[in-house]
Amino acid sequence: MAEIAQEIHGVVMSFFSTASAVGKTLISINMASELARQGKKVCLLDFDLQFGDVSNYLQLLPKYTVYDLQQAMRFQGDEIRAEEYLTPYKYHNVVFYVLAAPTKLEEAYNVDADKALIMVRQLQKVFDYVLVDTTSMFSKLNLALLDLSTIVSFLGIVDFIPTIKNMKIGAETLKNLNFDKNKIRLILNRSNAKTRISIKDVERLLGEPFYHILPNDFQAASRSIKEGVPLVLRSGGSDLGKALQELVARYTNRAYEEPVDEDVPESWLARIFG
Ligand SMILES: Nc1ncnc2c1ncn2[C@@H]1O[C@H](COP(=O)(O)OP(=O)(O)OP(=O)(O)O)[C@@H](O)[C@H]1O
Ligand SMILES: [Mg+2]
Repeated sequence: MAEIAQEIHGVVMSFFSTASAVGKTLISINMASELARQGKKVCLLDFDLQFGDVSNYLQLLPKYTVYDLQQAMRFQGDEIRAEEYLTPYKYHNVVFYVLAAPTKLEEAYNVDADKALIMVRQLQKVFDYVLVDTTSMFSKLNLALLDLSTIVSFLGIVDFIPTIKNMKIGAETLKNLNFDKNKIRLILNRSNAKTRISIKDVERLLGEPFYHILPNDFQAASRSIKEGVPLVLRSGGSDLGKALQELVARYTNRAYEEPVDEDVPESWLARIFG
């Protein structure tokens, strides 16, 4: 009997938001680290093309960037070995691979969305998990990436009314664009940061509860960036690191689901936007 060739494709996890500085990069780095710590083959693509921070946060000095990979694809064709353009991040026996953002603005500007998608598909053939850090906008590239993703972490923080308004617009836009509801996961970051707005009010406004809540931990977050070591790889661990590990566990183990609390009274926030 003829053998049927079957390609196995890695899981694509993207990190998206409608406001900047909500933790997309920090969280994607930690998710990549945790999956790699568990022995998975992981790459992290920095598709914040103009202002990517992945290499800075991990203190990497990449030889190649997305732009170099794109140039190589132009000359050698799309079937190029994209994995050769990645930079390894190593900490003790944990390793994962980074596709760095371009270093020059004009290079970033010239990265083509279609080529970027081909890169994701190529890397899916080689890695168990392809994680993608994005920017806070509904660009052609981001929409296509969300489409391609297995799971989208839609991150938000509850700080000021405009951020919440943009989160609502974002969530509604994704619904209107008919994205599979199950793959978009609302994640609240920096949950216990000082704010007068209650999480329940925001959930009511958004029309659904947050899938996962990550605590605010300024010290642990800034130390990890300063030292270039992701929180989940630190021995001792912080509450934020533990909450990030729990999120990875939930994404990789579908059996674990929390009950949903439906009974939320209407609030001033809901009335403003309602
Ligand atoms: N849970 C947290 N507790 C405390 N600080 C945090 C937390 N998450 C992120 N931060 C801090 O917030 C800042 C912004 O994080 P990050 O760069 O990951 O956001 P981003 O969404 O990628 O931003 P951008 O849109 O600019 O790319 C960083 O200084 C980071 O250390
Ligand atoms: Mg970022």
